[in-house]
Amino acid sequence: MLALIVALMFVPSATAAFYSMVGLAFFFGVLLILPIGAADMPVVIALLNSYAGLTDAAMGFMLDNKIQIITGSLDGSSGFILSILMCRAMNRSITNVLFGAFGKVQEQPAGLLEAAAKRTIRQCSIEEAAEILGTARSVVFVPGYGMAVSQAQHRVREVADMLKKQGVQVRYGIHAVAGRMPGHMNVLLAEANVPYDELYDMDQINSQFPETDVVVVVGANDVVNPAAKRVKGSPIYGMPILEVEKARVVMVCKRSLAPGFAGIDNELYYSDNTLMLFGDAKETMVKLTSALKS
Ligand code: TAP
Repeated sequence: MLALIVALMFVPSATAAFYSMVGLAFFFGVLLILPIGAADMPVVIALLNSYAGLTDAAMGFMLDNKIQIITGSLDGSSGFILSILMCRAMNRSITNVLFGAFGKVQEQPAGLLEAAAKRTIRQCSIEEAAEILGTARSVVFVPGYGMAVSQAQHRVREVADMLKKQGVQVRYGIHAVAGRMPGHMNVLLAEANVPYDELYDMDQINSQFPETDVVVVVGANDVVNPAAKRVKGSPIYGMPILEVEKARVVMVCKRSLAPGFAGIDNELYYSDNTLMLFGDAKETMVKLTSALKS
């Protein structure tokens, strides 16, 4: 492509070279996007938006159109800033998002797997969970990708409503990159008519966890993984997380011990104050509502 660009600068009338360059650009675009992991798509979409803006600005220079230069620059820079902010919130570099999938084999170090196999977890039943929630004074729900998959947001609100009726203080802790796109959790909870003033972002809620009786993690994994603070070699090391492990009791609702997007084990599940509530998020929330009723 570069050779064709140079050739076209010297011989602008070479139409075959021009169309070859356009064809190559098309394949370059497809090949650039193909290896990117599906969950990184929001970053890529923002970046492609940004490219479109920059192209518009470049066209503005060619056509001497000031409006196009201004709108293109605004579109290009805002898209780029959004991509960078998303990468920062995930503690990944933009090059890792764009090129990280090339030849990548996701493997956990053998030592870590063995250590995980030896550790024990504490499981709780729906009835036990309802009993613990019924006696709590403050509960924080922490939603994640699993809540979106299971479309459990309405059922989560129903559990929250029941708890509120019993005088429990209910809040929601929202991580900026929980789910798979910016504002994913905010959109789902708004759809379920959760009052906006019950939503707290990470900086607001983290200091509140030590005074919280129960945290209910609904399908979130990476965004509550303490490895982000402690394990230096971890892919999420340095990513700010919701420090749910500081609460008195942590209930984790998910289907298994399977990892999340980052593909790593979560030491939160083996912690003394963690209770695993295995099952689909929606089904579990429905069962929890009827257990709370009875
Ligand atoms: P994840 O770490 O991806 O974990 C989601 C968990 O949900 C899984 O461990 C899965 O465990 C559980 N799950 C799946 N289906 C479920 C169901 N039906 N019921 C209950 N649980 C279910 O999610 P997260 O904590 O929200 O973190 C988001 C991740 O995505 C971060 O690593 C972030 O960097 C990345 N990411 C985010 C964005 C944006 S902008 N939000 C963009 C790209 C990437 P089981 O299989 O055991 O149920």
